[in-house]
Amino acid sequence: MEFANLFQNWLVSSVIGTSPFPLLLLLCGSSLAFLLVSSVRRRQPGGSSSPPPSPPRLPIIGNLHQMSSRPYHAMHELSQKHGPLIRVHIGPRPLYVASSAELATEITKILDADSPGRDTKQASHAVFSGNRDVIFTPYDRYWRDARKLFNDELLSQKRVQSLHRIRDEQVSKLVQKIRLITSSSASDLDKKVAVDLSRMFLSLATSMDVKAVLGREYERGEDESVALGELIRKANELITEACIGEYFPRLSWLDTLTGHTRKVKNTCAPLHEFLDKVIDEHESGPVRDAQDFIYRLQKHDMGLTRADIKSLLLDVFLGGTDTSAGTMEWTMAELVKNPAAMKKVQEEIRRVVGDKPKIDESDVSQMEYLQCVIKEALRLHGPSAMSRKTSSDTRLSGGFEIPAGSSIVINLWAVNRDPTLWERPLEFVPERFVGSGHGYKGLDGKYFPFGMGKRICPGVRFAVSKVELVIANLLCWFDWELPGGMAPEDLDMRDTFAIVARKESPLCLVPRPVKAV
Ligand code: HEM
Repeated sequence: MEFANLFQNWLVSSVIGTSPFPLLLLLCGSSLAFLLVSSVRRRQPGGSSSPPPSPPRLPIIGNLHQMSSRPYHAMHELSQKHGPLIRVHIGPRPLYVASSAELATEITKILDADSPGRDTKQASHAVFSGNRDVIFTPYDRYWRDARKLFNDELLSQKRVQSLHRIRDEQVSKLVQKIRLITSSSASDLDKKVAVDLSRMFLSLATSMDVKAVLGREYERGEDESVALGELIRKANELITEACIGEYFPRLSWLDTLTGHTRKVKNTCAPLHEFLDKVIDEHESGPVRDAQDFIYRLQKHDMGLTRADIKSLLLDVFLGGTDTSAGTMEWTMAELVKNPAAMKKVQEEIRRVVGDKPKIDESDVSQMEYLQCVIKEALRLHGPSAMSRKTSSDTRLSGGFEIPAGSSIVINLWAVNRDPTLWERPLEFVPERFVGSGHGYKGLDGKYFPFGMGKRICPGVRFAVSKVELVIANLLCWFDWELPGGMAPEDLDMRDTFAIVARKESPLCLVPRPVKAV
């Protein structure tokens, strides 16, 4: 979601004064001249319906100027002033923002009974070559069949369990690698080598997904996994990013100047080249394993075209890789920042594993506190938003009306920090999940890091089993400390402002082996 980028691009460019930007300056100048001072519309008493309150806005740019470099924070601030459901304008287009768990549940339920869709961004058409994917497909027959296919062929409990060997193998490689690094520095006790966990997690999540979905590793070594992971990350940014042309069609030529058009081209071309290569190999290779996901897609009676298959493969990579790597990164960051939680979770993991040389997934299911740690990391650092699109006029309790075809953003960032739902909402307190019954299905009307309703994330099991196993291994076989004697409170926890926010600076920690593998 790059409203802020848009604004920043505009701002920076206006200041620099490169040729086309005086036009925007002019637009803004005229906006200021016509500053809307009309009072905010309030809820109308009685049974009549009304649009949700809308903060005062400027002509032409709407509320764009109020979207700081952190749009979800900015939307949250506007909601605190104007109510949990607001209508903001990005350029001429209204965007409805819901910031309470209650509204999120109500909206999801109402739209689930109709046909829950999502707004698509221009770039998502390029990334998915026409949106024949699951994430953006409207709620239709294709979406239902594709989701079922996903569930049956890749994401069912049985299939996810059957992929445990791949997870084991990749995690063992990571542990060995870290051991090697620590042993090479062991001769010199003062030489503590910090490892870049952000990079390692991206590489690991990418190779785990590539192997699970494509049947074998296509990248040679960490550098190639990271390169592919970065490409997936860029594509992920694009599908949630709004470009200038989307909101100001007459100014779409500015997208070339801001670099957006180039980014779309430079991301989509290598991504599709990679997928074409993979599919070509599958078609020409001699061995066609019936367990092979691509083979099963090709043989499916939905009659999927190559473009459809690429879109579905991208669903897995874009939906799962960056999100899983980010969850691992934030979990470790929060734990080093909170030594008491770190100690408690390590004690639990080591008690469950005992003298065994290897952690099995059945061990992880006994690690209740670890599961709470990951839930808490997802509360604070999971996706910042989920989106819906209304297919017909939608009336919410309180009499607010959202017209058909409107985009709604559910501000998960705000819901997850709502002090009426969470005690000490800004603190990392995994204990809040102990025996709480908050699962990942979004059934409690309060906690839904994977969304909820018909369009809930289908990859929950796939993602959680990966994250749990990786974190359990890192915490079982190593102690972790901050480099250079840094104090936990000094760890930089700033995030990028993407929907799936990453740590702005890489997480580098010093491992110390504690058990032989
Ligand atoms: C920690 C990891 C993950 C998180 C936090 C996450 C979160 C989410 C969220 C919040 C949504 C929107 C749900 C809604 O609108 O109600 C979503 C949708 C989706 N996710 Fe995930 N996800 C993760 C991993 C995965 C994985 C591993 C896959 C695939 C293997 C995946 C595939 C998808 C797909 C295809 C959708 C679109 C579903 C639809 O519209 O029908 N995700 N995810």
